[in-house]
Amino acid sequence: MLQVFENLSTLHSFRQSLLQSGLSLGFVPTMGALHQGHLALIERALQENDQVICSIYVNPTQFNNAQDLAKYPRDFENDLAQLQKFSNLHVFLPNDQVMYPAPALLKFDFGYLEQVMEGHFRPGHFNGVAMVVSKLFHLVKPTRAYFGQKDLQQTRIIHRLVQDLAFDLELVICPTIREEDGLAMSSRNRRLSPSERIAAKLIPDTLFSAREVIQVRKNSIEEIKNLVHKHFEEAGLRIEYFEIVDRFTLLPIENLDNVKEVALCIAAYLGEVRLLDNVIFGV
Ligand code: PAF
Repeated sequence: MLQVFENLSTLHSFRQSLLQSGLSLGFVPTMGALHQGHLALIERALQENDQVICSIYVNPTQFNNAQDLAKYPRDFENDLAQLQKFSNLHVFLPNDQVMYPAPALLKFDFGYLEQVMEGHFRPGHFNGVAMVVSKLFHLVKPTRAYFGQKDLQQTRIIHRLVQDLAFDLELVICPTIREEDGLAMSSRNRRLSPSERIAAKLIPDTLFSAREVIQVRKNSIEEIKNLVHKHFEEAGLRIEYFEIVDRFTLLPIENLDNVKEVALCIAAYLGEVRLLDNVIFGV
């Protein structure tokens, strides 16, 4: 039976009992509206740990837009129903008072890592992510923590967070899970209208064809970027950014000669819904 911890004392006593019995703990932080991508993280965590905690908390401090926070899908009952089938899984379901008994004053600065792509278009976003993830790591004290590659920049920021603050845990980054037509699974997909959902296929299609073009090395980086923008313009879709970067440093790639692994990162709008995706590959 799924145990749900809504306050810190029940979470602490559960954590204490695992430490005393020497059992490992996997952790999957989420903002709910769970989909197959989250379930794949939970399944992997259950394979690699004795027990697993999944947290469900829509973190207000990582939204730089009040409307986006208000419209973020919330479906806690359905989330819990989807998790019932797992053994050894527990849910941490805090509210704002539990997570932020006082507004956080501490500020993070990840330098270049937070100034590009998501950080550029969503100022303050990674400060909020780093704040809530640090708090969750302190409270849950996981042996291993699981994140999806779809949020590539977030995984790089959390990697630095773990390194800089010496969190004693292993970070596990798992592949993006896609719908049949290639669209990366995301809680935001459920906000798409039927026609937007069909049009959203352009995002993975563009990433996969840009990957092919890069691999044959016929076009310059500049030409590939222009082609991608043209593609979206012709489809009448708004692209916020398309970047070709080193997958670890996230620094832009101007020349493929000195690079081993490339990440193509995109953020685009389908109506009001902003979707993210990326592909990573060797060159
Ligand atoms: O990736 C997410 O869902 C969120 O950014 C996270 C890591 C749960 C922090 O709120």
